[in-house]
Amino acid sequence: MELEDINTVAVLGAGNMGHGIAEVAAMAGYEVALRDIKDEFVQNGYEQIEWSLNKLAEKDQLSQDDADAALERVTPLVDVEEAVGNADVIIEAVPEKMEIKKDVYGEVEEHAPDRAIFATNTSSLSITELADVTERPEQFCGMHFFNPPVRMQLVEVISGAESAEDTLDVIEELAEDFGKTPVRVHKDSPGFIVNRILVPLMNEASWLVSEDETTIAEVDSTTKYDMGLPMGSFELGDQVGNDVSYHVLEYMHEVLGDAYEPAPLLETKVENEELGKKTGKGFYDYE
Ligand code: CAA
Repeated sequence: MELEDINTVAVLGAGNMGHGIAEVAAMAGYEVALRDIKDEFVQNGYEQIEWSLNKLAEKDQLSQDDADAALERVTPLVDVEEAVGNADVIIEAVPEKMEIKKDVYGEVEEHAPDRAIFATNTSSLSITELADVTERPEQFCGMHFFNPPVRMQLVEVISGAESAEDTLDVIEELAEDFGKTPVRVHKDSPGFIVNRILVPLMNEASWLVSEDETTIAEVDSTTKYDMGLPMGSFELGDQVGNDVSYHVLEYMHEVLGDAYEPAPLLETKVENEELGKKTGKGFYDYE
């Protein structure tokens, strides 16, 4: 498939990442089918796209006409067949659990056109293992965006063991057409590049606080003001979603060993459903 052949993008999962990816694709002129398993989830994602596009227009980063046109290109859907039946590229952004993603690919494979490329926004899971549940591992790769997709420039394009060179090339071109900067990741290892570095950093911060070595405010002052990162470590955790970081760590712990064991503080946040900005409470309060 060539970039010119791509007209319709299906995004599976309308959460933090899914709605942001759908927004970026719609802003670049693609028709977008945004799908989630419940109407309330997909409507929530759609409303977040609307909020974000209007915010960009308010700040003159986009004209109001372009914002309205982008929103019109997004179709919120629950029916999976309708969502993927005419898609050229299917970007999956469902929760970061191997079994959930595998189930989704099983379902999608039944309805997706043969031409469609499958791209997963997984933050850490094996591309090869996910591709293996489909009948098109050569038309499968990682396309990993960062939160919030509309503001973050980088996209990791990750090769699975059987990803074809053509697939990787066209997904890189698509990322560029979305206005992003793709970086090819040749090795399908847990967390790829960014999360292999970033998530343990956030986890180490949680260990320090779990063990009463320091406080959240002290860590965030240090990471933000002294280390020069755009957000404090806990602030970033709330932005990414504590469940996402936790699932990434669980997987890295399982595959790579004890150095990646999630810290008790993070575990407690997940148990209490204090997942960050998206739930109104995480390490900080947002209400
Ligand atoms: N759409 C539109 N506007 C948005 C928005 C969105 N999705 N999200 C935030 N904004 C708006 C806010 O509402 C706020 O608006 P106001 O000024 O009107 O209040 C504004 O943007 C925030 O702007 P700021 O001036 O406070 O911040 P900034 O523009 O300088 O930078 C940022 C914001 C780009 C998010 C920056 O803080 C940053 O780069 N943070 C780090 C993010 C990061 O590292 N993400 C990667 C996480 S790792 C990951 O995602 C991978 C994974 O798999 C786990």
